[in-house]
Amino acid sequence: MADGIDFNEETARMLERTYQTPDVLGQRSRFHQLLGLRPGDRVLDIGVGPGLLARELGETVGENGKLSGIDQSEAMLAMTRKRCADLEHADFTMADACELPYPDASFDAVVSTQVYEYVADMPRALAEAARVLVPGGRIQILDTDWDSAVWSTRHPERMRKVMDAWDDHLHDAHLPTTLAPLLEAAGFSVYLREVIPLVNPTFQKNCYSYGISAAIRGFVAGRRGVDEDEARAWREEFRSLDQAGAYFFSLNRYVFAGIKL
Ligand SMILES: C[S@@+](CC[C@H](N)C(=O)[O-])C[C@H]1O[C@@H](n2cnc3c(N)ncnc32)[C@H](O)[C@@H]1O
Repeated sequence: MADGIDFNEETARMLERTYQTPDVLGQRSRFHQLLGLRPGDRVLDIGVGPGLLARELGETVGENGKLSGIDQSEAMLAMTRKRCADLEHADFTMADACELPYPDASFDAVVSTQVYEYVADMPRALAEAARVLVPGGRIQILDTDWDSAVWSTRHPERMRKVMDAWDDHLHDAHLPTTLAPLLEAAGFSVYLREVIPLVNPTFQKNCYSYGISAAIRGFVAGRRGVDEDEARAWREEFRSLDQAGAYFFSLNRYVFAGIKL
């Protein structure tokens, strides 16, 4: 159950850095390619975060299209508005994924990446996404299941404890396992299920696991019996594994897409 991540200015800066690493750039590029957006399309990004995907979507749909984005965090919206300031066909609004501030049938495509795993009422969120799409419109979603993480360690018990505590940052840490039936129940026909793997063979500043492990360390300290020293030691181990040439990290992103019937 999510009771933790505060999407404030500091988190916004951390996400912006981490989401500009080459592995996340590759993830975004594949997601964008799968979406097959065209100039002139009207697209909604639910939970824009730092706005890196939104910016790319806005450029693809162009000035004859429309880009809308929502987020429940003012810090995230501020970052996205700045990033997309020159896109006159873009608008960004503070709103919840379960209450979209748009009329029925406003969009040709809806996307949401790493947001629905934080949402408590998924049937309602997907009903809202379906409502704002035109018939035949598409939804494309990306979420993570941290059970797919493979992370080198000489302390498997500590790793398990830390990852169990990290699961608490999400409302549903295993959303990919139920997303397809949830989409079907909301009136979508699911036509795509794809995995995008992230792989880091080293522990360096420009890789995803470097940044996210700092966020994990900060989040888990003081939860589920993990204390500050244990959280620090958990992350420090990655430096020593890296120096020994023994570091490895991988994590799967799951993409689902559906068409509104
Ligand atoms: C991990 S970030 C992902 C941001 C962005 N989609 C990306 O992939 O770069 C999660 C974002 O979802 C937003 N969020 C979480 N729950 C939300 C909700 N119920 N409604 C709207 N936004 C939400 C957060 O404020 C945050 O900006």
